[in-house]
Amino acid sequence: MKKKLIGPFKQILSLTDLPLKGSLTDSALNIITESGILVEGETITAIGNFAQLRDQQSSDVEILQLAGHWICTPGYVDCHTHIAFGGNRANDFALRNAGASYLDIAEAGGGIWSTVRHTRQATEDELVDAIINRVQALLAQGITTIEVKSGYGLSVAEELKMLRAIKTAQQHVAVDLIPTCLAAHMKPKDYNGDAASYLQEIATQLFPILRTEKLSNRIDAFVEQSAFSAAEIKPYFETARSMGFDITVHADQFSTSGSAVAVEYQAVSADHLEASTEQEIALLAASDTVAVALPGASLGLGCGYTPARRLLDKGASLAIATDWNPGSAPMGQLMTQAAVLAAAEKLTNAEVFAALTFRAAKALNLTDRGRLAVGELADFSLYRTDNYQNIPYLQGSLQPEQVWKKGKQIFT
Ligand code: NIG
Ligand code: FE
Repeated sequence: MKKKLIGPFKQILSLTDLPLKGSLTDSALNIITESGILVEGETITAIGNFAQLRDQQSSDVEILQLAGHWICTPGYVDCHTHIAFGGNRANDFALRNAGASYLDIAEAGGGIWSTVRHTRQATEDELVDAIINRVQALLAQGITTIEVKSGYGLSVAEELKMLRAIKTAQQHVAVDLIPTCLAAHMKPKDYNGDAASYLQEIATQLFPILRTEKLSNRIDAFVEQSAFSAAEIKPYFETARSMGFDITVHADQFSTSGSAVAVEYQAVSADHLEASTEQEIALLAASDTVAVALPGASLGLGCGYTPARRLLDKGASLAIATDWNPGSAPMGQLMTQAAVLAAAEKLTNAEVFAALTFRAAKALNLTDRGRLAVGELADFSLYRTDNYQNIPYLQGSLQPEQVWKKGKQIFT
């Protein structure tokens, strides 16, 4: 494949040399000025001063010379979404804001179960179309890797339908989709048996198919009073771990319990954490589990934010994701949510960009992306502006004009 040199950029946010864990100051941001990126195939083969790189190239290198001021950032990684769903929960939002309780909403036909009903009604093809449309919306924001959960099927057959739809959608989009099995989202209301037998049925019947059909290598569970207790989920995670799946947890959203299980099972990430106290923060900080903040869920539910500042100060790794789903987080705007969290929790720009790139990639067990350096995937976004600070400052209203994935321009 032909080599391409892209530039000049006023700034490339390379993010190299930043650690996976802990707080970051903006002076640690590795910003390369008046720079260019050389791409060969799917990866970056050189990065540095644009004029020097241009002079070094032979005539077979395609030079894509930009006019005006441009900033280049790594492609973002949205490491937690539920974008495979049918229906809409606008009525839940209205009811919540009118003061209704969780129970009132469930009784009015809302909540996770209503999305399960709508998703079960959708055909696999309809789900594929819905996923593709939402992927396009995320791509336009510069997101080049998207985690997508099942969890609105809640039976072996319906979870398979969701995960097959995600796999099919991948054939139609250039962005990487990372599928996760969230069959443990809640105990299905139509299941005739207790939580333990439901989880056992999923583990014995669904897990082997995930392997044979290559549908997912990640198992997620919602550990919460309304979903599964820590005691119920441990045997499930035990099986998942023994089969070699990565584990991730919806943890400490309303009450504490999930993060301790996440750390005990060496989960790649513990997500939500709005209710985490100093005890859970210390546990996470001492582990390799990435803490994932989901400010979209705080905004959708009108509740507190993940204690991102405390997590970083104690030494944890922090990622930020949209949690895009029809119930708690309908917005799906990553930079807007990250900027809101940054203002509320006092996060530096370095902490925000790290949380949207290589730390989010780590939450997905991916180490080949999220920084702009030789050998990394050529996943990046081009913004028409003269200072990277404008990106979080404008809280999502400044969007990239070009997005590149594995060395190819896939959005303009
Ligand atoms: O991450 N917390 C549990 N699951 C989702 C919400 C799903 C829904 O309400 O449909 C979340 O916020
Ligand atoms: Fe979620």
